[in-house]
Amino acid sequence: MGKVKTRHVCNACGAESPQWFGRCPACGAWGALIEEVVPTAVEPGPVRAGAAARSRGSGPSAPARALAAQPLAAVTLRSRSRLPSGFGELDRVLGGGLVPGSLVLVGGDPGIGKSTLLLQTARSLATRSRVLYVCAEESAQQVKLRAMRLGTGAPDFSDQDPDSEPELELELDPDLGPESEPRSRLTANTSPNAAPQDLYLLAETNLDLILAELEALRPSVAVIDSIQAIYLPAMASAPGSVAQVRECTAALMRVAKRSDTTLLIVGHVTKEGAIAGPKVLEHLVDTVLYFEGDRFASFRLLRSVKNRFGATHELGVFEMADVGLREVRNPSALFLGGRDGAVSGTAAIVACEGTRPIVAEIQALVSPTSYSSPRRTATGIGHNRLLQILAVLEKRVGVPLSRLDAYVSTSGGLTVEEPAADLGVAVALVASFRDRLVDPHLVSIGEVGLGGQIRPVSQLEVRLKEAAKLGFTRALIPKGTPLRIRGMDLIPVTRLVDAIATALAGAAIADPPPERDRPPV
Ligand code: TYD
Ligand code: MG
Repeated sequence: MGKVKTRHVCNACGAESPQWFGRCPACGAWGALIEEVVPTAVEPGPVRAGAAARSRGSGPSAPARALAAQPLAAVTLRSRSRLPSGFGELDRVLGGGLVPGSLVLVGGDPGIGKSTLLLQTARSLATRSRVLYVCAEESAQQVKLRAMRLGTGAPDFSDQDPDSEPELELELDPDLGPESEPRSRLTANTSPNAAPQDLYLLAETNLDLILAELEALRPSVAVIDSIQAIYLPAMASAPGSVAQVRECTAALMRVAKRSDTTLLIVGHVTKEGAIAGPKVLEHLVDTVLYFEGDRFASFRLLRSVKNRFGATHELGVFEMADVGLREVRNPSALFLGGRDGAVSGTAAIVACEGTRPIVAEIQALVSPTSYSSPRRTATGIGHNRLLQILAVLEKRVGVPLSRLDAYVSTSGGLTVEEPAADLGVAVALVASFRDRLVDPHLVSIGEVGLGGQIRPVSQLEVRLKEAAKLGFTRALIPKGTPLRIRGMDLIPVTRLVDAIATALAGAAIADPPPERDRPPV
């Protein structure tokens, strides 16, 4: 027997090195390099994960055969319709439903609602096809208790009477052998919200057993909750380490592709905001979704950051209720909700998330500073963008802001990364500076250039239509796009100074702040 070879894998970034370092040479993380044994029969090329499967003895590699490349036109397509997940919002983010045989990674902070989302999805999918839910973090009983409280995402379920709790039985499947004990089935009864027949639960963390179960049950969809909690016993490293996460995903992928199972994998996000084993995993899977939102607010955003079968940066909006997640079909109403027209320093904008327009409010507060250098705080927009807009306002519009604190925030915790919000930010800042109330029916769309010009933005028509739908009647837009929107007065502008003058023309002066209690002289 030859010498056992080892390598050192960084737990933070997945980089490998033959030598141990106190600090990862790739990402600079301290104490993150962990030694692991290199599997002996490493296959050449990118399928090195195959080595792990072989070391477990799960099947020989495919027999060698002549390559049969064919012209693109000659490739025949199997007609495979996408599976609707039961959530219109999830389908939208996936690009129109789950692609059979695909691998979807759902990342997010702990407690954000990943398990809830996938359990509801699993229940809905199981009404049409066989679904296996691998709960590696919770017991089958816990998952069942949760399933009993949840709707399926279909509107008629979410609105149902909460008292009519379904009576679910957690049963062991009789046709399974004695070793298959962990697998159980949520059986249905007559209640409309009952668990569908074909939803199977497996409380297991050993990947070998999970793979065996996948092969035996051959579900159309399998949920792995979560990838950090499962492990390959053949590997020395701990569950959740980069090496484990990567090899587990690769092994799952091989089985899933072979049996045409769609895999939904939950991945927790690390402190730095990446799914542990970050880039390695994103390369392996077909689709990466991030579930995010303020844990203290009830809404959640589902975003696609990679999608082999659809557009990225699509956004799905959900609300966490007592019966689980409910989809929000009209997110603009959510982000505009509670708008108070009587406060100075606000402006409405339309942000585009993927193809989806969302109307939101920008709030600004400008006040004399009591620090040696003024404070600039941006919540929901980029800090550098705020600094840039302040500089342009000062230099090109002549608003003296350099000795003033400036705070800007978006309503509802929405993050707007695109420059189309610039004009709204500028209008809100000047409105706060002058204490003016901007017309609540005015929406401002445009990028602000360093020269003080208003630059065109993408998808202007989509944005304007969304604003018109919500009752906005005037829009400041970049000049140069001939457009007509019914019920909306479009005001093309080329310079920021004109845009601000138009936005604030005739704007009412906000009520003066209440007199401060002065101490008796
Ligand atoms: P969970 O899906 O367990 O999060 P994750 O899997 O991402 O860690 O979500 C847990 C949170 O969701 C928890 O804080 C409670 C809340 N929640 C509700 O508000 N309503 C519900 O019906 C459910 C099931 C959970
Ligand atoms: Mg969970």
